[in-house]
Amino acid sequence: MGNDYRDMSRKAANIISAQVILKPSSVLGLATGASPLGVYSQLIEWYRKGDVDFSEAVTINLDEYKGLAPEDPRSFRYFMNENFFKHINVRPENTNVPDGMAPEADECARYDGVIRASGGIDMQMLGLGHNGHIGFNEPGGSFDKDTHCVSLSDSTIEANRRFFEKDEDVPRKAYTMGIRSIMQARRIVVIASGARKAAIVMEAFRGPITPQVPASVLQLHNNVTLVGDTDALSMI
Ligand code: F6R
Repeated sequence: MGNDYRDMSRKAANIISAQVILKPSSVLGLATGASPLGVYSQLIEWYRKGDVDFSEAVTINLDEYKGLAPEDPRSFRYFMNENFFKHINVRPENTNVPDGMAPEADECARYDGVIRASGGIDMQMLGLGHNGHIGFNEPGGSFDKDTHCVSLSDSTIEANRRFFEKDEDVPRKAYTMGIRSIMQARRIVVIASGARKAAIVMEAFRGPITPQVPASVLQLHNNVTLVGDTDALSMI
């Protein structure tokens, strides 16, 4: 993607680095996927220049595939290590991603405990699924869930297929922070890039608030910033 993606990434990175500069011990809610990659590269660049310091920051990721180990290159933990954590000075023990290998009941309760013990998420970055999902909260789920295990929708499985060799390897389930956990973040930054996100950006931010479009719940949050490139924002 061209300059637009870079601009979007720089703007979102600006908001996140300002958060960390103002409060070095910030709890950052993070996402994986294509959208935040440019944000992470920008933050890494500023870290290398000495402009931002993550030594006191805590990170809490949104989600992880059930059944993938942290060292599996397709896991979100691996993605975060490779694309962000290992390039900055965040302390590994201060980074949190659900453990895809842990049993369901234990892991969801443990993760909610991690969020609580952190004192709450200061800033949550979110990407937007084509079907309006945030984290892996798929259409039709309820708004009042904390961390839980979800069955991924067909469209999400389809979107993930490119990362897996065989169809049957694509995970069908994931652990995700729930909508309630996401809505408790003090500030939310949504990033969206490309024409393929234009319709869902419109539905989520201008359409009715409904579990059919999970991101529409963000209209009820009092501190949400949408950072998008021109294509993604073309319909609003
Ligand atoms: C990732 C996540 C997902 C993605 C969404 C958009 O941790 O929770 O909700 O943010 O699927 O993905 P991209 O950015 O790849 O379009």
